[in-house]
Amino acid sequence: MARNLRWAYLLLVAVILVISGCSSSNDKETSASELKTGLDKDEIKNEAFKDLFPLQYDSYMKNGEDHEDTKYSGSVKRSKYDADKEPYLPILFNGYGFATEYNEDRGHIYANEDVRAVARITDKSIGSCLTCKSSAVPHLIEELGDDYWGGNFNKDIWPKAEAMGHSSIGCSDCHDPETMDLRITRPSFIKAMESQGTDISNATKNDMRNYVCAQCHVEYYFDAGNGEVTFPWANGFKAEDMYEYYDTTAKANGFEKDWVHNVSGTPMIKAQHPEFETHMEGPHGQAGVTCSDCHMPYERVDGKKKITSHWWTSPLKTMEQSCATCHTNRTADELKDRIGEIQDTHMEGLHKAEDISITAHYYINKMITSGVSEDKVKQAQEHVRKGQWMWDIVAAENAAGFHNPQGAMDNLRVSVEESNEAIKLATEELVKKEVNLEELKKEIEKAKKAVTSETDNFKKKEHAINSYFPAQQPPAPK
Ligand code: HEC
Ligand code: HEC
Ligand code: HEC
Ligand code: HEC
Repeated sequence: MARNLRWAYLLLVAVILVISGCSSSNDKETSASELKTGLDKDEIKNEAFKDLFPLQYDSYMKNGEDHEDTKYSGSVKRSKYDADKEPYLPILFNGYGFATEYNEDRGHIYANEDVRAVARITDKSIGSCLTCKSSAVPHLIEELGDDYWGGNFNKDIWPKAEAMGHSSIGCSDCHDPETMDLRITRPSFIKAMESQGTDISNATKNDMRNYVCAQCHVEYYFDAGNGEVTFPWANGFKAEDMYEYYDTTAKANGFEKDWVHNVSGTPMIKAQHPEFETHMEGPHGQAGVTCSDCHMPYERVDGKKKITSHWWTSPLKTMEQSCATCHTNRTADELKDRIGEIQDTHMEGLHKAEDISITAHYYINKMITSGVSEDKVKQAQEHVRKGQWMWDIVAAENAAGFHNPQGAMDNLRVSVEESNEAIKLATEELVKKEVNLEELKKEIEKAKKAVTSETDNFKKKEHAINSYFPAQQPPAPK
C-alpha cells in the first residue's frame, strides 16, 4: 500500500515536471554533462568560473545582495535571541557556546565571514568547524587527513584555507570544475549514506539535486576520537532514530554529550540544522521533490535565457518559480497563505515545548539543591535530555515547520511528554522534601525575565542562574 502511494507520488511528480517543462534540459543555457570547461580539476575559486558561466555567477552574487527577512526566516544577520525570535535560548543552551552567541542563517556568500566572527569559535576550536563553509575543505582533508578534523581552527586550518584562495561555499563544492557535473565533496556524507546501505555512486541526477545540499544541511557531531564530522544516520533520518544512535553507537564510540547543562546538570546533545533529514521524511521528500526544485528554481535571465537559480534563499521570495510550476491548480498567493498557516501552527507548538523544557531544567536544579537522591535526579535528567533533543531537532531546522509539518508536530509532542515526565518525577520528590512549589514557579519566571530583559546578548546567559538556582556545570577541564 505504502509502496503504491509512493509510486503514485513519483508518477505525479514526473507528470508535473513534464507539464511544467521543468525537465526539458535542452531549453537551458548550458547542458552540463557534455561540457569541457578547460578549468583545472582542483580549481576552488569562484572567480575562475565567472567568465565561463556569467549568468550562474551573477545569480550566485545575489546571495550577498539580499538582506530581507520573511516572517520566520530570511537573510538578515541577526541574533536568534531577539525578542521576536527565540529569547530563551540562553537558558536552554546554558553552559554551551550556543548560549553565548547564536545567529540566524544568511546567504552562502557570508559563511566564511560568519564562522570567523562568531564567539563560539575560540582558540580551542578545531578544523571540523570549517567543513560546511569553505571550498578549500576537500583539499585540506586530502592534504592533512585527521590533522584537518582535529587541527587548530584559528592557528592552522583557517590560514591554510586563506592561502589556498578559497571561496565561501564555492562552485567546486557542488560541481566538478572540468565537466560541471554535480558531485559530492564531503566524505562525511558519503560515509553516513553508506551506514544506511546507500551507495551514492549510484545516485540519479535527481538524487544529486538533494545530495549536494545534504553535505552541509544536516545534523552532525564530532567523533570522539579524531574530531571528524559525523552524521548520526545509521538507524534512519527520524529524530527518534538519531537519538537512539546517540544512545548506542555514538556512546559505544566514546561520544556521550555535547555539553553538561548548567541549570540541570544534564549531559545534553545539541541538534544542528537537519534540513535534509527533515525534508526526506516530509511530504515533498517522500514524493521525490528535491531541495533544488524549491530553492534553485529555473529562472529567466537576460530577458530570455533559462538558468538554474543560484540564489539560495527563502522560496517565499520566489513563489512563482519555486512552487507554482508544480502546483498549477493553486495560485502563488494561496500557496503562500498555506505556508503561513503551517508555520504559525508550528511556531506555537515549538514555543510551548520549549517552555516546558525550561521548566524541567529548573525543577531538576531544585531536586539537586534539595538533596533528592542521585538516582532520581538521573532519571529526571534522562527525560529532560530526550525532551530537549526532540524540541531542538525541530527548532534547529530552518524552515519553521514547512519541510515536514506533521513530522515536526509529532516530535514536539514527544518533547512535551518527556519534559513533563521529568517535571512529574521532580514534583513527587520535591513534595517529599517540602519544597515550596509556588515559590519555585515564581523563581523560574524571575530568571526568565532577567534573561530577556538583559540587553547585552553576551550577558544573557549569566541571568539563567542565580543564588536560588546555582550553576550545576562542573568546572571545565584544563
Ligand atoms: C517544497 C519546497 C521546498 C523543498 C523541497 C525544500 N525547501 Fe527549504 N524551505 C522551503 C520553504 C517554504 C521555507 C521557509 C522559508 C521562510 O520561512 O521564509 C524553506 C526554508 C529553508 C531554509 C531557511 C531559509 C532562510 O531564509 O533562512 C533552508 C536553509 C532550507 N529551506 C534548506 C533546504 C534544503 C537543504 C532542502 C533539501 C534538503 C530544502 N530546503 C527543501 C521550501 C522547500
Ligand atoms: C550548493 C551547490 C551548488 C553550488 C555551490 C553551485 N552550484 Fe551550479 N548547480 C547546482 C545545481 C543543483 C544545479 C542544477 C543541476 C541539474 O539539475 O542538473 C546547478 C547547475 C549549474 C549549471 C548548469 C546550467 C544551469 O543553469 O542549470 C552551471 C553552468 C552552474 N551550475 C554553474 C555554477 C557556478 C559558476 C557556480 C559558482 C559561482 C555554481 N554553479 C555553484 C548546484 C550548485
Ligand atoms: C558547503 C556547505 C553547504 C552546502 C553544500 C549548501 N549549503 Fe546552504 N548554507 C550553508 C551555510 C553554512 C549557511 C549559513 C551561512 C551563514 O549564515 O553565514 C547556509 C545557508 C543557506 C540558506 C539560507 C539563506 C538565507 O538567506 O538565509 C539556504 C536557503 C540554503 N543554505 C540552501 C541550500 C541549498 C538548497 C543547498 C543545495 C543546493 C545548499 N544550501 C548547499 C552551507 C551549505
Ligand atoms: C517538483 C514539484 C513540486 C514543487 C516545486 C513544490 N511542490 Fe508541493 N507538492 C508536490 C507534490 C508531488 C506533493 C504531493 C505530496 C503529498 O501529497 O504527500 C506536494 C505537496 C504539497 C503540500 C501538501 C499537500 C497539500 O496539498 O496541502 C503543500 C502544502 C505544498 N506541496 C506546497 C508547496 C509549496 C508552498 C511549494 C513551494 C515552496 C511547493 N509545494 C513546491 C510537488 C511540488
